[in-house]
Amino acid sequence: MSILGSDIIKLPNIKLIDEYDRRLNYLRISITDRCNLRCLYCVSNDKKPNLPHKEILRYEEILRLVRIGVRLGISKVRVTGGEPLIRKGVYDFLGQLTQIDGLSDVSLTTNGVLLKNNIKKIRSAGIKRINVSMDTLSRKKYHEITGHDMFHQVWEGIKSAQSQGFNPIKINVVALEGINDDELIEIAKLSFSSPLHIRFIEYMPIGTSHLNISKHLLAPEIQERIKVLGELVPVEKGVNDGPAERYKFKGAQGEIGFIHAISKHFCNECNRLRLTASGKLRACLLSDSEEDLKGPLRRGCLDSELADVFLRAVSHKPRNHHLACDQPVMVAGRMSAIGG
Ligand code: 5AD
Repeated sequence: MSILGSDIIKLPNIKLIDEYDRRLNYLRISITDRCNLRCLYCVSNDKKPNLPHKEILRYEEILRLVRIGVRLGISKVRVTGGEPLIRKGVYDFLGQLTQIDGLSDVSLTTNGVLLKNNIKKIRSAGIKRINVSMDTLSRKKYHEITGHDMFHQVWEGIKSAQSQGFNPIKINVVALEGINDDELIEIAKLSFSSPLHIRFIEYMPIGTSHLNISKHLLAPEIQERIKVLGELVPVEKGVNDGPAERYKFKGAQGEIGFIHAISKHFCNECNRLRLTASGKLRACLLSDSEEDLKGPLRRGCLDSELADVFLRAVSHKPRNHHLACDQPVMVAGRMSAIGG
């Protein structure tokens, strides 16, 4: 029996609020588990094959789920992967997604490899904000981290996004001791000369990645190191903001953000749900508890039954995750299929 009854339209006031009073209004959607890079910190070494195409949610299925999510209070969506831009038909999909009434924010996370030639299509689809993963300013190191010599191509893509008026453009930098720790100041400096938002992300030791680093580089230490560039002035958070702590150097055009996945768990303000490429709904990146949406979708069930699945996932959202530097967590799905 459905919690919502047979017709979701009749019950517009049921929202995704969990037992700790967190209102879940942000859905991250992984549209593919495939990627054209092999980043050390993301790709697993478990040699699992990619999902067969039929196991991946079709665009129309994703759009239906988003419409149901919006009825339940989702107002913000981010499209991720794998690498979302390698999926066929993605630009039409983005166009349809941004048309959904009730979504106030639709953004995209990409590795930037395919950005330059497609930036106009992304813009025409109605996307105004993008996050690009870029962990280094060195071509050689980029190749080492990602397995591909694409540094210049990605920077060209970022520049094209700037000239097309994307704002903000966030640059995701996973801070890795012994790999890019010697570059953090140079990377932070970028925020002076351009309006880029540089976001330093603490590396999350998801158990299946290749990486074995000796010391964890945490946000307070990064902050301390980049202070040589000037005073970091806190920036007030906006309503749609994620967990990043925002700062600006005096006189800078752009911003600096810190994502303390480890040093300061932000679980108490977590507003996220994740839809995986294979059609599972996860309420916590770091917990394997997930609810299947694809099965019921493909059995032809009602919107109200799918809404029940959303509510069930929310009811299982753990209060906290327990990720720490010295305890890698094993997450059954790979980061690339869950979407980071
Ligand atoms: N730890 C921290 N951040 C990660 N990302 C991917 N894997 C990890 C990890 N193990 C980040 C990348 C990408 C975003 C989607 O997730 O920076 O930009």
